[in-house]
Amino acid sequence: MKEYGHFDDAHREYVITDPATPWPWINYMGTEDFFSLISNTAGGYCFCKDAKFRRILRYRYNGVPMDDGGRYYYIKDGDTVWNPGWKPCKTPLDFYECRHGMGYTRVTGEKDGLKADVLFFVPIGHRCEVHRVKLTNTGVAKKSFQLYSFVEWCLWNASTDMENFQRNLSTGQVEIEGNVLYHKTEYRERRDHYAFFGVNRKFDGFDTDRETFIGMYNGFNAPQQVLAGTSGNSVAHGWSPVASHRFDLTLEPGASEELIFVLGYVENLPEEKFVAPQIINKAKAQAMMDAFATGAQVDAAFAQLRVFWDDLLDRFIVESEVPELDRTVNVWNQYQCMITFFFSRSASYFESGIGRGMGFRDSNQDLAGIVHLIPDRARQRIIDIASTQFPDGGCYHQYQPLTKRGNNDIGGGFNDDPLWLIFGTVAYIRETGDFGILNEQVPFDNKPGTEVSLLDHLKISFKHVTDNLGPHGLPLIGRADWNDCLNLNCFSDNPDESFQTTENKTEGSKAESLMIAGLFVAEGRDFAALLDRIGEDPAYVDEVLKAVAAMESAVKKDGWDGGWFLRAYDYYGRKIGSDECEEGKIFIESQGWCTMARIGAEEGLCDKALDSAKKYLECEHGLVLNTPAYTKYFIDYGEISSYPQGYKENAGIFCHNNPWVIIGEAMAGRAEDAWRHYKKITPAFTKDQALRKVEPYVFCQMVAGKDAAKPGEGKNSWLTGTAAWTWKAVSEALLGIKPQFDGLLVEPCIPIGTYRIRRRFREAEYDLIIRNSGKGGKVFIPYKPGKQTLEVDC
Ligand code: BGC
Ligand code: NOJ
Repeated sequence: MKEYGHFDDAHREYVITDPATPWPWINYMGTEDFFSLISNTAGGYCFCKDAKFRRILRYRYNGVPMDDGGRYYYIKDGDTVWNPGWKPCKTPLDFYECRHGMGYTRVTGEKDGLKADVLFFVPIGHRCEVHRVKLTNTGVAKKSFQLYSFVEWCLWNASTDMENFQRNLSTGQVEIEGNVLYHKTEYRERRDHYAFFGVNRKFDGFDTDRETFIGMYNGFNAPQQVLAGTSGNSVAHGWSPVASHRFDLTLEPGASEELIFVLGYVENLPEEKFVAPQIINKAKAQAMMDAFATGAQVDAAFAQLRVFWDDLLDRFIVESEVPELDRTVNVWNQYQCMITFFFSRSASYFESGIGRGMGFRDSNQDLAGIVHLIPDRARQRIIDIASTQFPDGGCYHQYQPLTKRGNNDIGGGFNDDPLWLIFGTVAYIRETGDFGILNEQVPFDNKPGTEVSLLDHLKISFKHVTDNLGPHGLPLIGRADWNDCLNLNCFSDNPDESFQTTENKTEGSKAESLMIAGLFVAEGRDFAALLDRIGEDPAYVDEVLKAVAAMESAVKKDGWDGGWFLRAYDYYGRKIGSDECEEGKIFIESQGWCTMARIGAEEGLCDKALDSAKKYLECEHGLVLNTPAYTKYFIDYGEISSYPQGYKENAGIFCHNNPWVIIGEAMAGRAEDAWRHYKKITPAFTKDQALRKVEPYVFCQMVAGKDAAKPGEGKNSWLTGTAAWTWKAVSEALLGIKPQFDGLLVEPCIPIGTYRIRRRFREAEYDLIIRNSGKGGKVFIPYKPGKQTLEVDC
């Protein structure tokens, strides 16, 4: 089977050896508020804080060819023009390699005895990308050639940049000073930020006007200046500002030259914006240029980045007999959790960065993947999220990272949302032991003066469910639950309406969700345990437990279909996810949540539900969301039935929810089933890279299901709740390291005998040899700071 690359575990890198991957295989750079997306051919873009409002590089999602535009270096060597990353010229290279590492990407190309090695990274503490370009003459003759840099600026708002041309084509402004090309569109009025692209040596020519550099009828693959070996020294006025430097270089055989480029972003105080009329204050840009003027400075910054990631990833290390498991756990899954936490669902090669901000449910779930890595940031995120809640417990479905304010375009009404706040907070406290967060004063809808404690926010989250029960005592679904394509109050026959925000019929709705019911029982129990641990009023704890018990009874009474848990009741009170249904007889979400909540376990319901999931939902590449897939549009069900069979929420393998079944299996002690389900969705175990299409090192939101045209084809890689949920599944349910309020519970459920786990937990460092008998044993390790080496027999 064709391979496009391989893992380099020792360096925590994925090495791509063929640039023509079946889809751009990307990486992310940045750890604070300056972020970049970079593909294996150096395509992509960067932004500061907000992918929509502070976009620095322009990117065309729907371009043909795909993934054109990025940070390009062109080499003109005689009549040959090539790029180290192969694109955009696509001149065949003698050698190509792209190494995606933790927060950096290194692209190396070699052609006709000239090697170009470009290291891209976002240094810690700076709002910029650093590109270190090292050129080496690997031949036997002296070489004279030219090097060009190139980026294209976005006019900041990534949305209007693609729409409002009557204005945009007149606003572009640049400045050129020293070795730096500045992009200052709109800086003279309301913006206090500009971008720049500089280099640590004097250039021989430059361009800032796209048409001059590329030519009206050329593409990125054939810029007219590069073909001619010239620069236009153009100064952009409107149209499309770009930045390109030219260097005329000569290298003796064996000799190297290194150039350091900095692509940065600067904010200035209003009173410090200008040094003279129209002349921008460049002090901060200069300081950033000075910080990366030498190779030694770049080495130091790069080493600092390595230390950052090494320190994080050393917090959980498994050594087992299965390399695919180890590399997933030790490197890529945790890395993806971090990236997903930073970006939520905003910017990937499937998310345009202009649509969505931070999701309430999404961001809470993402916490589960990073609380052990960056607890302080998790803490802040919880407060930010809770601040977008309403006094009745409902909440904004999304908020914008720039303002942290709830997003009015989307509003609220997704009835699973409030419960995720309990989920995220409990995960955080179990990891950190920081019960103090519960006393934080947090406003409603960001309105000063409305503050109550975070604990009160959790209470009203819980109450929001009990305040909104339907005819069977099950939670009303509202606009939708976790599956935001199951739109039971939408009833849309108008293609111009959004399924996500339209509710044409809500009055008297009987639409109830078994997924929320399972979530409520599971989170309600955790909530009660938390309340108990902090000594809350026993009467209230009792009330919580009674509500949980009532929900369990309701599920057993009206949520069980004979062989599995129902999915929902629709507007009219008719069953969804029942054997009675013509299509969509069984759904994964309720099997996952109700088995995680162990509803009816004693009566055998969980085992039956898990068996049914195996029998009806499992296929070669994972568990599909529902089956049989909907073959026609059901106006009563909404977006789910708008997808062709086998894709997305209509019987795709929605990887996010597979871990729910995996955890359910582990809770039922069914190690073989849990492990098999896990391996199917985990990319490191996937053999056919061409079929999978997207990156073989990260999870996808969706893999095409058994009813699709090409089962096994992956989509929507990178930003997905799958990252956090597979992390929770593998670290807690399979490998059995479960953080508790007062220690670690070791309870493995995986068909692997002995393995070692090194786990930092608060101020403790555990080095555990786990001898897993496979009989479901468990050992509680009370928390104690310091280093501890333990042999654990389970
Ligand atoms: C997708 C969902 C997504 C929703 C909100 C739908 O089109 O299928 O997966 O959550 O949009 O963005
Ligand atoms: C992706 C969304 O981000 C998430 O909120 C939702 O739960 C899933 N799709 C399932 O529809």
